[in-house]
Amino acid sequence: MKDILTELESRRTEARLGGGQRRIDAQHAKGKLTARERIELLLDDSSFEESDTFVAHRATDFGMDKERPAGDGVVTGWGTINGRLVYVFSQDFTVMGGSVSETHAAKIVKIQDMAMQNGAPVIGLNDSGGARIQEGVMSLAGYGDVFQRNIDASGVIPQISVIMGPCAGGAVYSPAMTDFIFMVKDSSYMFVTGPDVVKTVTNEVVTAEELGGASAHTKKSGVADAAFENDVEALAEVRRLVDFLPLNNQARVPVRPFFDDPGRIEDSLDTLVPDNPNMPYDMKELIEKLADEGDFFELQADYAGNILTGFIRLEGRTVGVVANQPMVLAGCLDIDSSRKAAKFVRFCDAFDIPLLTLVDVPGFLPGTSQEYGGVIKHGAKLLFAYGEATVPKVTVITRKAYGGAYVVMASKHLAGDFNYAWPTSEIAVMGSKGAVEILYRSEFGDADKIAARTADYEDRFANPFVAAEKGFIDEVIMPHSTRKRVARAFASLRQKRQERPWRKHDTIPL
Ligand code: HXC
Repeated sequence: MKDILTELESRRTEARLGGGQRRIDAQHAKGKLTARERIELLLDDSSFEESDTFVAHRATDFGMDKERPAGDGVVTGWGTINGRLVYVFSQDFTVMGGSVSETHAAKIVKIQDMAMQNGAPVIGLNDSGGARIQEGVMSLAGYGDVFQRNIDASGVIPQISVIMGPCAGGAVYSPAMTDFIFMVKDSSYMFVTGPDVVKTVTNEVVTAEELGGASAHTKKSGVADAAFENDVEALAEVRRLVDFLPLNNQARVPVRPFFDDPGRIEDSLDTLVPDNPNMPYDMKELIEKLADEGDFFELQADYAGNILTGFIRLEGRTVGVVANQPMVLAGCLDIDSSRKAAKFVRFCDAFDIPLLTLVDVPGFLPGTSQEYGGVIKHGAKLLFAYGEATVPKVTVITRKAYGGAYVVMASKHLAGDFNYAWPTSEIAVMGSKGAVEILYRSEFGDADKIAARTADYEDRFANPFVAAEKGFIDEVIMPHSTRKRVARAFASLRQKRQERPWRKHDTIPL
């Protein structure tokens, strides 16, 4: 008995060493933590239960039968984040570059299946050289199995990917199908084809970092939701995100203790909107002043800054926020902001997270690049996402709500539950200047007449009352009482149930 216990311990020790001390040192020298160190930081102390520690690959070609490290390049198991169950896999770059073999993939699949069965999120820590070259199609088959589970789990359990090293070729498509992608600055990259292939095919010379580093994906492509300075920060932020998420699509949003009066009055909001309608202001200030303890978990902060998306809590419960940001492109909708917000709205709806929409939108961005890029279809994504969302929807218009963009931004017409407007709201087909130019073109030689026409238009439409008279705005509210009004609105909607007609699935404009 004693011998077998000793053998277990020595096998465990060997497995924990992954690819050996030399490779662990090399990993550390790159500023990266090992697969196990990452799990320790991600999960609550001593909560990790590892599975498949001793799984080894079955390949024999290329002398592989002589090298069969325990665990096969991925550490898998489950544990807790602030006491709540999560499943995790963490690729071990020290073992054959974290490359994915048949058995490596099977370990990930097992975790995905358990997470689905038990209704808890999957967090994947990616650090891999891709398909294990020695295994050929067996590796590709393994990826296919992981992909299928990503698809099956979509909208059922939250799936989170953290890219902490290489992630290239078809391997990118597993993270791409998950709900959140986080990257680590300077040590992670994602691309479908690497710099060498790019050079051969297109003659472009580009580094891996330029092509698929954290900056490229948080600022240019919008593939990633956020980038962090190092592994430690990335893992701490994943913990913070998980605290906002329900464990699955049948569970309610978590309720955390809160120490912020839901009725808190914020007098400073009464002067947030400048007198000059063309002056910007920071919508993030409003979000933070509405949130419990000012805590806002922002997603895609460096991408499509004309719209803000992220999570806050009201009375301790998670609320998804979408808000036009007048500081960037005057807060207009365009291709990128529509896609960004549509994805977020659909995530919230899938997981029963109520939606708060803050509106200050002058319309859609004009231009050939927008039209040729398909703003018609992309704008429709956001419209569609709001219209199909059955979660509680509360909307506050702070200033402009013009044209089609007014309808898109969770208006009453898209089944908004509570549509509030500040007294500074302007709800109209367009701004006064554009309207007068079209309606009174023949009078344009006469400056006085045009000034009078403009003033008349402003009197009629540069306010929330026309919409309120029609019932499209439920109430005109004082800015300083917004937190109280919104918190009460969501509280009244906690038992909301709205069924949609049966269909296999919709045909959202993709
Ligand atoms: C087997 C691999 C491997 C792989 C790396 N290694 N990638 N072993 N299959 N795909 C091994 C190396 O042999 C080495 O072993 C160790 O991992 C570390 O690799 P290094 O090259 O020394 O590290 P580094 O210089 O940091 O470079 C990392 C790398 C490079 C950029 C990832 O290893 C690389 O280019 N690998 C090949 C990547 C690739 O082409 N993969 C296939 C992509 S296509 P030792 O014993 O020396 O430690 C793909 C398709 C997926 O993935 C399709 C899904 C449908």
